[in-house]
Amino acid sequence: MSKKPPGPHGLQTIPHTLDFIREQIPYIQRMAREYGDVVRFRLGNLDNLLVSDPAIIHEVLVSKAQDFHKDEITHDLKELLGEGLLTAEGDQWKRNRKLASPNLQRTQVSVYADIMSQLSTDAVGRWKHGEERDLHQDMMHLTMEIVVKTLFNLDSGPELDEVSHHVDVAMHYFHLMTHTPWRWVPEVFPMPARKDFKHSIERLDEVVYGLIEKRRGGEEGHDLLWRLIQAKDDEGEGMDDKQLRDEVITMFLAGHETTALVATYTWFLLVQHRDVLDKVFEEVDRVLQKRQAGFDDLQSLSYLNAVIKESMRLYPPAWIIGRQAIRDTTLGDYEVKKGMQILISQMVLHRKPDVFENPDEFRPQRWLEPGFEKSLPRHAYLPFGGGARICIGNHFAMMEAILIVASMAQHIDFELRMTTDMQVSPAVTMRPVVPVTVRVHRR
Ligand code: HEM
Repeated sequence: MSKKPPGPHGLQTIPHTLDFIREQIPYIQRMAREYGDVVRFRLGNLDNLLVSDPAIIHEVLVSKAQDFHKDEITHDLKELLGEGLLTAEGDQWKRNRKLASPNLQRTQVSVYADIMSQLSTDAVGRWKHGEERDLHQDMMHLTMEIVVKTLFNLDSGPELDEVSHHVDVAMHYFHLMTHTPWRWVPEVFPMPARKDFKHSIERLDEVVYGLIEKRRGGEEGHDLLWRLIQAKDDEGEGMDDKQLRDEVITMFLAGHETTALVATYTWFLLVQHRDVLDKVFEEVDRVLQKRQAGFDDLQSLSYLNAVIKESMRLYPPAWIIGRQAIRDTTLGDYEVKKGMQILISQMVLHRKPDVFENPDEFRPQRWLEPGFEKSLPRHAYLPFGGGARICIGNHFAMMEAILIVASMAQHIDFELRMTTDMQVSPAVTMRPVVPVTVRVHRR
């Protein structure tokens, strides 16, 4: 007999919805602390099940994956992303994943390493000794330059600024509609952000379709758009323009903000842990010997690799994974009703004391201890998700994060000038709320 999951119910759900709207991450962490590894709570019209037991997560992502689709909030993104990989389901997703996957494997993305290091070196080359900068903004700009150059063979310029502006407008609207009470306001209500959103989608479409047309008629290249245009399925069919448009916007969105956050949080942690930063400087100087970092250096930058993993454990840019049950099913001993939203939060999972010793401590060394990674339960560490829908850009992202931080560390050091603690805002990604102000010291 399956059991009903524990959690707040009845009138308790009203203050809970308000608490959730106010502070989502602390709320979710509190639910897990108070009720355990499986908690059911209602928010507005959504019936949620938060699961934090790696064995049950395995059921959601792998062994019972056929019982789940992406959650409602992710499906809402279809207004922007259409049937791109992040939001598509079923045969459409399967076909496009098969077409895109070979192009994002480790060996295939290795050709992007030099661009990543070069653009990072150029960016820090423009910074002056002693000046103060907002690191988060700088990293957003850098990863955007990297993503458009590697994925679409486009250089910085007005076209890029326009795309990024319209994606920002669209994401702002999406944030209002998913993580604030606007979600429950009827669509007929005149809302300026909605008008701006519609306009931005139209402009984005014009720019992106133009880019696809240009690329179809352009020269052979290594950029992902070119590779996607060439990719053919078993019947010899490729992606049409609408599918390419959806994948382009999906990759742009999924591929730059997340990595910018990894670089930002990594430096935020490093400057507060000088002993760790000194080891990073030592490794980078020893391995690179003043050369620009390349793909072949990745293996030797093992300490930096551990630093990035530890940074993504404490500050996972993707802080929550959502699914919804498409039929009645069970998870562990618990009953799950069709329509229930299943939430897996890396902010709970990555700080479980029974899995990570001193979970709130920044200790990259743990990743280098013999047997540590092997000893982790499967799905206890999920910066890139898991199962068939694991992040398709994970090799790209790890390589990029290491090369950005290594290229920066070759030339500069920072002093943290933030006047408050790090506060994060949970939207699609987990962003810092206040500017991450740093003073630049050239090394
Ligand atoms: C550190 C950087 C990144 C993080 C933390 C991250 C995280 C994630 C996570 C957690 C998922 C799974 C979502 C789910 O299961 O619902 C995902 C999916 C995805 N990511 Fe990433 N990602 C990163 C970088 C990238 C990059 C660079 C790209 C593109 C080049 C990318 C493209 C995608 C796509 C297309 C999906 C959907 C895959 C599918 O469902 O088939 N991501 N990402």
